[in-house]
Amino acid sequence: MMKGILQFSHHLIEEAVNKGETVIDATCGNGHDTVFLSKVVGEGGHVYGFDIQEQAILNTRELLASQKIKNATIIKDSHSNAIHHLSVDQLTSLGGAIFNLGYLPGSDKGIVTKSETTILAIEGILTHLKENGVVVLVVYHGHEGGELEKRNIMEYVHQLDQKLHSVLYYGFINQKNTPPFIIAIEKRTN
Ligand SMILES: C[S@@+](CC[C@H](N)C(=O)[O-])C[C@H]1O[C@@H](n2cnc3c(N)ncnc32)[C@H](O)[C@@H]1O
Repeated sequence: MMKGILQFSHHLIEEAVNKGETVIDATCGNGHDTVFLSKVVGEGGHVYGFDIQEQAILNTRELLASQKIKNATIIKDSHSNAIHHLSVDQLTSLGGAIFNLGYLPGSDKGIVTKSETTILAIEGILTHLKENGVVVLVVYHGHEGGELEKRNIMEYVHQLDQKLHSVLYYGFINQKNTPPFIIAIEKRTN
Protein backbone atom coordinates (compact mmCIF):
# COMPACT_ATOMS: atom_id res chain seq x y z
CA MET A 1 0.00 0.00 0.00
CA MET A 2 1.31 3.44 -0.91
CA LYS A 3 1.64 5.72 2.08
CA GLY A 4 -0.37 8.97 2.13
CA ILE A 5 1.43 12.30 2.35
CA LEU A 6 1.36 12.72 6.13
CA GLN A 7 2.05 9.05 6.71
CA PHE A 8 5.07 9.15 4.39
CA SER A 9 6.40 12.37 5.96
CA HIS A 10 6.36 10.60 9.33
CA HIS A 11 7.92 7.47 7.87
CA LEU A 12 10.89 9.50 6.56
CA ILE A 13 11.44 11.01 10.01
CA GLU A 14 11.19 7.62 11.73
CA GLU A 15 13.79 6.19 9.36
CA ALA A 16 16.30 9.00 9.93
CA VAL A 17 15.86 10.11 13.54
CA ASN A 18 17.04 8.18 16.60
CA LYS A 19 15.93 8.25 20.22
CA GLY A 20 17.74 10.90 22.24
CA GLU A 21 18.24 13.30 19.34
CA THR A 22 17.01 16.85 18.85
CA VAL A 23 14.37 17.57 16.19
CA ILE A 24 12.63 20.67 14.91
CA ASP A 25 8.96 21.16 14.14
CA ALA A 26 9.36 24.28 12.02
CA THR A 27 5.60 24.99 11.75
CA CYS A 28 3.93 23.59 14.85
CA GLY A 29 0.39 24.82 14.00
CA ASN A 30 -2.02 22.66 16.01
CA GLY A 31 0.83 20.55 17.34
CA HIS A 32 0.18 17.20 15.67
CA ASP A 33 3.69 16.85 14.27
CA THR A 34 5.18 18.09 17.55
CA VAL A 35 3.47 15.23 19.39
CA PHE A 36 4.65 12.76 16.76
CA LEU A 37 8.26 14.02 16.94
CA SER A 38 8.29 13.90 20.75
CA LYS A 39 7.50 10.19 20.55
CA VAL A 40 10.17 9.55 17.93
CA VAL A 41 12.99 11.08 20.02
CA GLY A 42 11.67 9.70 23.32
CA GLU A 43 12.22 11.07 26.82
CA GLY A 44 15.95 11.52 26.28
CA GLY A 45 15.46 13.62 23.17
CA HIS A 46 13.92 17.01 22.59
CA VAL A 47 11.60 18.74 20.11
CA TYR A 48 11.81 22.45 19.36
CA GLY A 49 8.57 23.72 17.84
CA PHE A 50 8.22 27.10 16.14
CA ASP A 51 5.31 29.17 14.93
CA ILE A 52 4.74 32.88 14.44
CA GLN A 53 1.05 32.72 15.43
CA GLU A 54 -0.05 33.02 19.04
CA GLN A 55 -3.02 30.71 18.39
CA ALA A 56 -0.72 27.99 17.09
CA ILE A 57 1.56 28.29 20.13
CA LEU A 58 -1.45 28.00 22.47
CA ASN A 59 -2.95 25.06 20.55
CA THR A 60 0.34 23.17 20.52
CA ARG A 61 1.09 23.77 24.21
CA GLU A 62 -2.44 22.63 25.09
CA LEU A 63 -2.11 19.44 23.06
CA LEU A 64 1.27 18.66 24.62
CA ALA A 65 -0.07 19.28 28.13
CA SER A 66 -3.12 17.08 27.48
CA GLN A 67 -0.77 14.25 26.55
CA LYS A 68 1.66 15.01 29.40
CA ILE A 69 4.50 15.51 26.94
CA LYS A 70 7.53 17.09 28.59
CA ASN A 71 10.28 16.81 25.99
CA ALA A 72 9.17 19.72 23.80
CA THR A 73 9.84 23.45 23.86
CA ILE A 74 7.46 25.67 21.90
CA ILE A 75 8.78 29.03 20.78
CA LYS A 76 6.91 31.94 19.18
CA ASP A 77 9.43 32.90 16.55
CA SER A 78 10.04 32.41 12.86
CA HIS A 79 11.64 29.14 11.87
CA SER A 80 14.30 31.21 10.12
CA ASN A 81 15.69 31.80 13.65
CA ALA A 82 15.29 28.18 14.75
CA ILE A 83 18.93 27.19 15.06
CA HIS A 84 19.68 30.24 17.23
CA HIS A 85 17.43 28.79 19.95
CA LEU A 86 19.36 25.52 20.18
CA SER A 87 22.46 24.92 22.33
CA VAL A 88 25.70 23.63 20.79
CA ASP A 89 24.96 20.14 22.18
CA GLN A 90 21.49 20.15 20.66
CA LEU A 91 22.84 21.31 17.31
CA THR A 92 25.31 18.44 17.24
CA SER A 93 22.50 15.94 17.80
CA LEU A 94 20.11 17.44 15.26
CA GLY A 95 18.46 14.45 13.59
CA GLY A 96 15.73 16.04 11.51
CA ALA A 97 13.13 18.70 10.92
CA ILE A 98 9.65 18.88 9.51
CA PHE A 99 7.87 21.78 7.80
CA ASN A 100 4.15 21.82 6.97
CA LEU A 101 3.88 24.76 4.60
CA GLY A 102 0.77 26.87 4.13
CA TYR A 103 -1.75 28.21 6.66
CA LEU A 104 -3.03 26.96 10.00
CA PRO A 105 -6.20 24.90 9.35
CA GLY A 106 -9.24 26.61 10.86
CA SER A 107 -7.42 29.90 11.28
CA ASP A 108 -6.34 33.07 9.43
CA LYS A 109 -5.59 32.03 5.83
CA GLY A 110 -3.63 35.27 5.43
CA ILE A 111 -0.84 34.00 7.68
CA VAL A 112 1.12 31.61 5.50
CA THR A 113 4.68 30.39 5.22
CA LYS A 114 6.83 32.34 2.75
CA SER A 115 9.67 31.03 0.64
CA GLU A 116 12.28 33.57 1.84
CA THR A 117 11.98 32.53 5.50
CA THR A 118 11.36 28.87 4.67
CA ILE A 119 14.57 28.70 2.61
CA LEU A 120 16.59 30.59 5.26
CA ALA A 121 15.36 28.09 7.84
CA ILE A 122 16.22 25.08 5.68
CA GLU A 123 19.72 26.43 5.01
CA GLY A 124 20.38 26.95 8.72
CA ILE A 125 19.11 23.50 9.63
CA LEU A 126 21.10 21.78 6.85
CA THR A 127 24.31 23.38 8.16
CA HIS A 128 23.91 21.61 11.50
CA LEU A 129 21.96 18.49 10.54
CA LYS A 130 23.70 15.16 11.32
CA GLU A 131 24.83 12.98 8.42
CA ASN A 132 21.83 11.01 7.13
CA GLY A 133 19.51 13.38 8.95
CA VAL A 134 16.47 14.56 7.04
CA VAL A 135 14.48 17.75 6.46
CA VAL A 136 10.93 16.96 5.37
CA LEU A 137 8.77 19.60 3.67
CA VAL A 138 5.07 18.95 3.24
CA VAL A 139 4.20 21.47 0.55
CA TYR A 140 0.60 22.71 0.54
CA HIS A 141 0.31 25.20 -2.31
CA GLY A 142 -3.40 25.63 -3.17
CA HIS A 143 -3.79 28.90 -1.20
CA GLU A 144 -2.93 32.44 -2.24
CA GLY A 145 0.86 32.78 -2.39
CA GLY A 146 1.29 29.00 -2.32
CA GLU A 147 2.26 28.70 -5.96
CA LEU A 148 5.06 31.25 -5.56
CA GLU A 149 6.42 29.55 -2.45
CA LYS A 150 6.31 26.18 -4.22
CA ARG A 151 8.16 27.55 -7.27
CA ASN A 152 10.90 29.20 -5.18
CA ILE A 153 11.38 26.12 -3.02
CA MET A 154 11.58 23.83 -6.04
CA GLU A 155 14.20 26.13 -7.56
CA TYR A 156 16.17 26.10 -4.30
CA VAL A 157 16.16 22.31 -3.82
CA HIS A 158 17.02 21.66 -7.47
CA GLN A 159 20.33 23.48 -7.10
CA LEU A 160 21.45 21.65 -3.92
CA ASP A 161 24.73 19.82 -4.59
CA GLN A 162 23.99 16.12 -5.11
CA LYS A 163 27.32 15.22 -3.49
CA LEU A 164 26.10 16.76 -0.25
CA HIS A 165 22.34 16.18 -0.31
CA SER A 166 19.83 13.76 -1.77
CA VAL A 167 16.51 15.39 -2.60
CA LEU A 168 13.36 13.32 -2.91
CA TYR A 169 9.99 14.27 -4.43
CA TYR A 170 6.91 12.27 -3.37
CA GLY A 171 3.38 13.08 -4.50
CA PHE A 172 0.23 11.75 -6.14
CA ILE A 173 0.20 13.14 -9.65
CA ASN A 174 -3.36 12.10 -10.59
CA GLN A 175 -5.10 13.83 -7.67
CA LYS A 176 -7.44 16.72 -8.51
CA ASN A 177 -6.91 20.39 -7.58
CA THR A 178 -3.59 21.14 -5.89
CA PRO A 179 -2.62 18.12 -3.80
CA PRO A 180 0.20 18.53 -1.28
CA PHE A 181 3.49 16.80 -1.94
CA ILE A 182 6.69 16.04 -0.07
CA ILE A 183 10.22 17.24 -0.62
CA ALA A 184 12.74 15.49 1.61
CA ILE A 185 16.38 16.53 1.85
CA GLU A 186 18.83 14.00 3.26
CA LYS A 187 22.33 15.08 4.25
CA ARG A 188 24.74 12.61 2.70
CA THR A 189 27.73 11.10 4.47
CA ASN A 190 31.10 12.47 3.41
C1 LIG B 1 0.08 24.06 7.70
S1 LIG B 1 0.27 24.87 9.23
C2 LIG B 1 1.12 23.69 10.24
C3 LIG B 1 0.29 22.54 10.70
C4 LIG B 1 0.92 21.72 11.82
N1 LIG B 1 2.10 21.00 11.41
C5 LIG B 1 -0.05 20.78 12.50
O1 LIG B 1 0.26 19.59 12.69
O2 LIG B 1 -1.13 21.25 12.89
C6 LIG B 1 1.52 26.08 8.89
C7 LIG B 1 1.93 26.91 10.10
O3 LIG B 1 3.09 27.65 9.76
C8 LIG B 1 3.10 28.83 10.53
N2 LIG B 1 4.10 29.77 10.01
C9 LIG B 1 4.00 30.65 8.97
N3 LIG B 1 5.17 31.30 8.79
C10 LIG B 1 6.03 30.84 9.75
C11 LIG B 1 7.39 31.13 10.09
N4 LIG B 1 8.10 32.04 9.40
N5 LIG B 1 7.95 30.46 11.12
C12 LIG B 1 7.22 29.52 11.82
N6 LIG B 1 5.94 29.19 11.54
C13 LIG B 1 5.35 29.85 10.53
C14 LIG B 1 1.65 29.29 10.46
O4 LIG B 1 1.35 30.19 11.49
C15 LIG B 1 0.90 27.95 10.56
O5 LIG B 1 0.52 27.69 11.88
